[in-house]
Amino acid sequence: MFEELKLLIKNAKAKYSNFCVASIIVDKDNNKYSGVNIEYDVPTNSICAERNAIANAFTNGMQPGDLKEVHVLGMNKTNSDENMFVPPCGICRQAIVEISNYEAEIFLYNLKGESKKYSIMDLLPEAFTGKEI
Ligand code: THU
Repeated sequence: MFEELKLLIKNAKAKYSNFCVASIIVDKDNNKYSGVNIEYDVPTNSICAERNAIANAFTNGMQPGDLKEVHVLGMNKTNSDENMFVPPCGICRQAIVEISNYEAEIFLYNLKGESKKYSIMDLLPEAFTGKEI
């Protein structure tokens, strides 16, 4: 997975932050979908790698609830730190919890290829799950 993320991150479009992120998500049937972050000239248009991977998954047929794993690699191109892990932002966590039946596993990688694993409920305790509606 790390090697795939390293190739993918080259496609990130981060002309303002210079902070590149790649994400590969895996569904319950082990289908993989990828995404990178994209920054536009109107900053609020920008989108994270994780939610681009999710959009790609839904576009290609993944069903809500079927997300199983989220893999993330980030790189600050201005000040590269090979020990840094990039956790998903709050908006991405909320999307992940909602479409994974609260069970997604999150794998973070640094540039050395080391990884850390979390469950989405560790990263977003007491989440709004959608069941409240
Ligand atoms: N970014 C992601 O793609 N994923 C995250 O989880 C954190 C932040 C992107 C958004 C923006 O393009 C850049 O990193 C700096 O915030």
